[in-house]
Parts: sequence; C-alpha cells; structure tokens
Amino acid sequence: MTIDATVPNVARMYDYYLGGFHNFAADREAAEKILAIFPDTPAAARGNRRFMRRAVRYLSREAGVRQFLDIGAGLPTQGNVHEHTDGRVVYVDNDPVAVAQARSLVDGEERVSVALADLRDPEALLADPHVCGHLDLGEPVALMLVSILHFIPDEADPWSIIARLRDALAPGSHLVVSHLTLDGVDAAPAQQGTQVYRRSNAPIVPRTHAAIERFFDGFELVDPGLVWIGQWRPAEGEDPTSHGYGAVGLKR
Ligand SMILES: C[S@@+](CC[C@H](N)C(=O)[O-])C[C@H]1O[C@@H](n2cnc3c(N)ncnc32)[C@H](O)[C@@H]1O
Repeated sequence: MTIDATVPNVARMYDYYLGGFHNFAADREAAEKILAIFPDTPAAARGNRRFMRRAVRYLSREAGVRQFLDIGAGLPTQGNVHEHTDGRVVYVDNDPVAVAQARSLVDGEERVSVALADLRDPEALLADPHVCGHLDLGEPVALMLVSILHFIPDEADPWSIIARLRDALAPGSHLVVSHLTLDGVDAAPAQQGTQVYRRSNAPIVPRTHAAIERFFDGFELVDPGLVWIGQWRPAEGEDPTSHGYGAVGLKR
C-alpha cells in the first residue's frame, strides 16, 4: 500500500474534523486552514454523520431495506452503517488507509464486506467480488453516497455514474446523498475554502440545490425532499449546523 503523507487527504481531513487519530501533519494543517475559515466544520461533519444514521434507520425500519452499499465510507470512527441495521453492508472507498481501517473494524462480521474501489468506475465497482459476492442485486439496495459526490468533478459526470448504478439496482432500492453546498456563503470564504481543497488528493466541488437534486433523476424523493442536512427528519434538540443538503430517494 502506498500512502503519500505529504498531500492532504480528504478522508483523513474529515477524520480530523471528527476528532479521529488517523491523520498526518499535512492533513491536520489543511484541516486547520478550513477551520480558520469555517469554524463550525466539526459540527457540520457530526451533523452529516447523524444524517447518515437517520437515513439508515429509516431505510432499515420503515422502508424494509436489508442491503447497504456505502460508497466513500471513509475512516470509520463510530456510528457506522452496520451499527444501525442488521442487514448486509458493503463499505467501499478508494483510499487504501480507509479500507484497511474498515477491514480491521469489521473483522469477523460475516454480514459486512469491504471493497477498495472507485466510484468513477461503477462497472468495476459492481463487479468487485467484495460487492457482487456479498449483495443480491436482484433485491433492493440502499446506495449510500454520503459526502462523496462533491469529490467527483463535473467532467467525470457524476450524474451518469449514478444513473449507471441506479440501472443496476432492483426496484425498491434507495439513493442516499449528502453533498456540500456554498449556497448562501459569501464569495471570499467560499473561494478560500475551495482553494485549500485544491491542494488535496481530491479537490472539492460544492454544488447548488438544483445540481444536487438532479442526482435523484429516476428516484422519487422521500419526505421532506432535498433539504439542509440538519432538517432531514432530525431528532428533537439536534444541532442543525449544516454545510450541505441531504435527501433519500426511492427507485420505483
Ligand atoms: C468526507 S468522507 C465521507 C465519509 C462518510 N461517507 C461520511 O459521510 O461520514 C469522503 C470519502 O469519500 C472517499 N472518496 C473520495 N473520492 C472517491 C472515489 N472516487 N471513489 C471512492 N471513494 C472516494 C474518500 O476517500 C473519503 O473516505
């Protein structure tokens, strides 16, 4: 496994926001620059994790979904998908550190599998034995793209990547997305923040509400639709800090 510890890595920067220890000096320096511009980033990151867990619980308990494909799963700290469902779970990431970390965390869990694969190559991802050998694509799957699509630039056409994955999934499958936005953010901090990520392993692409909603083409948005992450079915008293939008959609 080759790790370049000198280039800030988005998985490890996110780990730092969440108070984790799987990060290097370059990750922490870049993350500190973001914190100087957007001090509420850790609160927003925690809010994003809570959104993910609320979505998993909804899918598991109310929508009857028994299989979860979590792409861009990241460095698991706590509160991961498999801890909120007793269904089958596949974690996918293209970062070898995140994958190694996930494997050590779920070692011995027969219903959980971990794949090193890239969202930008959906056919290879679906053909990975850790994915297709673990999930039954004839049955509904929850496709979780939580805080990953803003690392896929427009040139890579994330809309068609999702369409290819959607077409491979059975009716009754769901799509879960959370995505960074700069809607409502002043131009100067927006530009400074994007600049920090430009020097990372995966430059960030914040998108508008309309652009994010297009990811749900072919899906029916579940109530309350595409909203600020903290507004998607929150529990009472939850911190509403959000840096992005989130939604769940159903494939009929
Ligand atoms: C911000 S973290 C999100 C982690 C988790 N989904 C969450 O929301 O808490 C983004 C993750 O996406 C992964 N990632 C970025 N681009 C990817 C790609 N093209 N294919 C697979 N994973 C990718 C990164 O390595 C990182 O672990």
